[in-house]
Amino acid sequence: MPVRNIFDIDTVRRDFPILHQEVNGQPLVYLDSGATTQKPQCVIDAIVDYYSSYNANVHRAAHSLSEKATARFERAREKLAHFINSTSPREVLWTRGTTEAINLVASSWGSENLKSGDKILVSALEHHSNIVPWQLVAQQKGAEVVPIDVTENGDIDLDALDTLLGEQVKMVAVSHVSNALGTVNPVQEIVQRAHYYGAKVLIDGAQAVSHFPVDVQSLDCDFYAFSGHKLFGPTGIGVLWGRENLLEAMPPYQSGGEMIETVRFSGTTFNELPYKFEAGTPDIAGAIGLAAAIDYLNRFDRQEVAAHETQVLHYAIAKGEELSGIKRVGTAKQVAGVYSFLLEGAHPADLGTLLDQQGIAIRTGHHCAQPLMERYGISGTARASFAMYNSVEDVDRLFKALAKAKQFLL
Ligand code: ALA
Repeated sequence: MPVRNIFDIDTVRRDFPILHQEVNGQPLVYLDSGATTQKPQCVIDAIVDYYSSYNANVHRAAHSLSEKATARFERAREKLAHFINSTSPREVLWTRGTTEAINLVASSWGSENLKSGDKILVSALEHHSNIVPWQLVAQQKGAEVVPIDVTENGDIDLDALDTLLGEQVKMVAVSHVSNALGTVNPVQEIVQRAHYYGAKVLIDGAQAVSHFPVDVQSLDCDFYAFSGHKLFGPTGIGVLWGRENLLEAMPPYQSGGEMIETVRFSGTTFNELPYKFEAGTPDIAGAIGLAAAIDYLNRFDRQEVAAHETQVLHYAIAKGEELSGIKRVGTAKQVAGVYSFLLEGAHPADLGTLLDQQGIAIRTGHHCAQPLMERYGISGTARASFAMYNSVEDVDRLFKALAKAKQFLL
């Protein structure tokens, strides 16, 4: 067993240099980790080290720098495979992020496996990036994207799922954690029900992987997508995990160098997994930086991290109940990372500006989940989203600033 650091919030905060600054004359309180997480110093150092000491292209050259870059790049893939308990690094494809990962499946798997009359189920709380790629491929193939309703609380309605499931359903695409409400969806249950009807399941794990351990084997899903930048790693890198037999059978997504075996004008053959899906020079620094983020997370007991985050989130929920005029949006049974709310009588965008003036960074708007906002009859919410480096003091600052904003706005 590796030696774990005891989770200590002050030590953790020291690892993230960006947190120690003033914004608009106030100490920064960063509550927008759902949009992107901050990066620990070790991730920044790993990227600087790559560019300053062994920058070279991978899998191509006959020189030492390239050998070192290739070894680190492939070691990063192995780390990611281990992180999600994949049986093989061949199942771990580098993408630019969750959005590209879902587009890859919709386009490549969808073009081979969908036909007229087929259905793709997506929950009504999905991010646009788990809706629109399916709409595009559905249009091409004459298939249909059908929403699974959510309850008033913000849980996926499993009875509605049961009603929709049937042999025409070929894919069920759901998020593990809702970016707009923080709902933790019962994905294992959804996988079981979908598989009973022979449908495949893609899970958008963008908002999950930083909050709790993910095991793709025990989830038993078919595809799992996530982004590095929401996992303390750099932007521009993400992962698509897919079952090897499905990936083997899927056609390439993009084409060019690296993804080929031989190219002739009479015809081209393709590389083996995972390279078949990795055309062009990959984001080498991104993969190395993301591996450093995984090393960082692995220093801790993930259960301890999750317990800390739950404490902070539940503290925010309780504070919200004490401040009149604040209405929480979404009260799902299980939540992670997100506190979405409205201040009655105020526009979320105005609230965001007033909080920013007090050094508090939140996101406001529809959170790229317009169908969900429509479900609630609102145009958007204010969203505080948390990561391992947030503290109860951050929540106190948020509510102090909210009380002040309330006086100003109402
Ligand atoms: N999907 C990210 C968010 O929820 C950008 O903010």
